[in-house]
Amino acid sequence: MRDYDLFTPEAIADPTGYLRRISEQSPLARLPQLDAYLLTRYSDVKDALRDRRMDSANMARVLNHLTPAEQQELAPVRRAVEMWMGHTVPADHVRFQQLLKRYFTPAMVDRLRPRVREFTHELLDAVASKGGMDVVADLAYPLPANVIAELLGMPVSDREQLQAWSRDILPVFGNGDVQQLRHAQRSMLEMHDYLRIIAADRRRTPREDVLSTFMAAEAEGIVTEDEAVANCVLLLFAGHETTANLIANGLVLLFSNPGELARLRESPDLMPLAVEEMLRCDGPAGVIGRVTTEAVSLHGRTVPAGSHIYLALMAANRDPEVFEDPDVFDISRSRTRHFAFGMGTYYCLGAALARMETDECLRILLGRCPDLRPAYDTPDWQPTPPFGHRLGSLPVTF
Ligand code: HEM
Repeated sequence: MRDYDLFTPEAIADPTGYLRRISEQSPLARLPQLDAYLLTRYSDVKDALRDRRMDSANMARVLNHLTPAEQQELAPVRRAVEMWMGHTVPADHVRFQQLLKRYFTPAMVDRLRPRVREFTHELLDAVASKGGMDVVADLAYPLPANVIAELLGMPVSDREQLQAWSRDILPVFGNGDVQQLRHAQRSMLEMHDYLRIIAADRRRTPREDVLSTFMAAEAEGIVTEDEAVANCVLLLFAGHETTANLIANGLVLLFSNPGELARLRESPDLMPLAVEEMLRCDGPAGVIGRVTTEAVSLHGRTVPAGSHIYLALMAANRDPEVFEDPDVFDISRSRTRHFAFGMGTYYCLGAALARMETDECLRILLGRCPDLRPAYDTPDWQPTPPFGHRLGSLPVTF
């Protein structure tokens, strides 16, 4: 087992290549700065996702590396993240899953499809006369923000504020930069205040939205207001940033693979397969965390109870043992399961929604813009260490 540093310029510039090297050299690796282990191979990630001795980990553990005074200052953000459903003890997790799953069934997602189409057309109408746009700012970010705001029951007029907050919160998953975490905390607390006002309204006048469901559950003593508010933030964040990245990263993959783009233009019904291949090649959740509840033996080593293990989904999804030519974007690839949405107990609640939004958005974009072209030399990748990247902008002409 070897030590690795995910914050070197080399690792930040090419996380996929770096993870592949780790996978070849040391299937169980150590990340000393993060005080964690790392698994990268498909079979190991799969086993870990099914392993009941590995609990979903609290990603706010970046806070553990701060000074006691900084940790004290950032205690509110830690408390909030600890209430997020994926990060709660199993009984609490089931409680939230039971409450929320009805909003994310395939039937429910299908009911949202016309709204997603409307939102996409509205966003494209707004830029149609300009002959070009920044796909990130003009389409990929606002679309899922609108959808999730509607699902939660927030006025569409607040969507820009919601997008800004959601972006500010990102460093909670980052490398522990204190300034950024302070900013994230400020935005999260502002968001909580905002949500409490809407929650009070839904208590008096329930509607068909997630916040009203939470308030009904609060009245029955199933959740507290703090939990409801914290989990609305989770849904906003989880439903927004990830889907936006999938839409934007997916389009870059199509531009970089003109043959596949041409096939898709010819046969738009290949879009669901293309979305799966986008998820496999460049899924927005590059890594997830687990904590061992008891000692676990991995690759001949004993990993003690209470250890943090990162599962590199992005590496597993390109494991050459499982995927032929793993770095090739091939929309007709045979469907071996990828882990872009995780697997098992914590499988992504919004997977069907994210797939549908991306499918509709890209289908409409390609349909309306037969001359769509990239207006960049190299994509504007912004590293998001440890692991991964996202696009700062994506200029196109049409
Ligand atoms: C492309 C878009 C998305 C990706 C790549 C993604 C990825 C993931 C992954 C990998 C997990 C598992 C985390 C773990 O096992 O620790 C997860 C969980 C989750 N996702 Fe997503 N997600 C996406 C979109 C969404 C959307 C649209 C929503 C909701 C509106 C959502 C809500 C959630 C929730 C609530 C969980 C926690 C589930 C649980 O603990 O039971 N996600 N997501």
